[in-house]
Amino acid sequence: MLSGGFRVAALTVLVMSLLDALFGYAPAQVVHVAARLGIADHLARGPRSSSELAAATGTHEPSLRRLLRGLACLSGVSEDSPGVFSLTDDGAVLRSDAPDSIRRMVMLSVSDEVWRSWGELEYSVRTGKSAWEKVTGATSFAYFATHDEQRLTFNFAMSQHTRTVAPVFLAGYDFSRFATLVDLGGGNGTLISCLLRAVPGMKGVLFDTADGLESSSEVLAAAGVSDRCEVMVGDFFDSVPPGADAYVIKSVIHDWDDADTVRILSNCRRAMGPSGVLLVIEPVLPDVCSAEDTGAVMSDLNMLVLTEGRERTEAEFASLYEAAGLTLVELVGPLAGYRLIVGMVSSAEENMPRPSADGPVSVSIACSGCGISPTTRPFGEHTPAMSPMDPFGLPPEYRNTTRPAASSSSTVDRSAT
Ligand SMILES: C[S@@+](CC[C@H](N)C(=O)[O-])C[C@H]1O[C@@H](n2cnc3c(N)ncnc32)[C@H](O)[C@@H]1O
Repeated sequence: MLSGGFRVAALTVLVMSLLDALFGYAPAQVVHVAARLGIADHLARGPRSSSELAAATGTHEPSLRRLLRGLACLSGVSEDSPGVFSLTDDGAVLRSDAPDSIRRMVMLSVSDEVWRSWGELEYSVRTGKSAWEKVTGATSFAYFATHDEQRLTFNFAMSQHTRTVAPVFLAGYDFSRFATLVDLGGGNGTLISCLLRAVPGMKGVLFDTADGLESSSEVLAAAGVSDRCEVMVGDFFDSVPPGADAYVIKSVIHDWDDADTVRILSNCRRAMGPSGVLLVIEPVLPDVCSAEDTGAVMSDLNMLVLTEGRERTEAEFASLYEAAGLTLVELVGPLAGYRLIVGMVSSAEENMPRPSADGPVSVSIACSGCGISPTTRPFGEHTPAMSPMDPFGLPPEYRNTTRPAASSSSTVDRSAT
């Protein structure tokens, strides 16, 4: 037990760190508003006064100066002389044109919708329901389908974050063992571009909804991998492209509840050959959490507030894998806060195509450019998973492209994206 001065000092540290946490909203909004105003872009060519910056951003100079002082306290800018600010190395990541820019990530993380949803944390804790849905009236993906600017910000934010962690995955796991790889819910292709660049012999399929794939043709072209990467519009609740050596699915499973997760994983299991490998990339919660797990725990709360999903423990992943006919064989990492949760088909026989009760309805999902053999699969067993309920509220044009009848034309027309 502490006594006297030590106890006072310990309490002071406790209160100070609690105060830091309580006032966390202040730095979050300072960085957010600076990112929205493009302060880093305006400082890209050298120091500027708060008056010049106010004129460039159309803001109230004395108040902007107070914001800039706040940003200086967070190391984003430095105040070189009274009222004159320059960009620091730390702040340079807020430039929209920086190769390692996180500007969109900042704009998403503290966006109006996220901010208001976190204000409803108590609602989520009391009901177990998504605060985002309460606040916006729609699930996140349905909302993004009808809000272009927010969707762009979300897609870019995902890609900016993925770009920063992909090299760590490559350093921690040998992807060169695979000749073919599908990235499910791969967004604009940032992760698969990094993987294909690192493994020159590998071919890939980038699979996502039409909304998620926005800008993918530019991302793949910029990485010089377009000729090795097929782009497919699809719905992983219907089916996923068959026959690849590996199925990567990063930051997707935590968006969904257990029932939806089993549907996605079951479709992966159906698509995988006997030696296929599933790589779910997510944080993994320990059975008992401590301060070291803050990242994963806060991400779990973020999922509570924003989605129907959650972060999970190893045992929870193992039981979801089992329910989908998969076995969790290895946990790789932590790698930049994530684990590669490696799964394989539980039994080779289970993966063999089976005719449905109504007789086989064959559908060919061809991946012509990637070398994954176009496999004819009985689609009857997939059909029940296509619930008449459309939990995503996706727009009609997307639905058409993902229906089996349209699968031969389900490859994205790159010129249109
Ligand atoms: C959180 S983002 C992760 C993106 C990417 N994997 C990454 O880590 O950067 C989730 C992705 O799942 C995609 N997605 C959501 N519902 C989907 C569906 N039914 N079928 C295919 N992709 C879907 C979204 O469009 C989005 O790109």
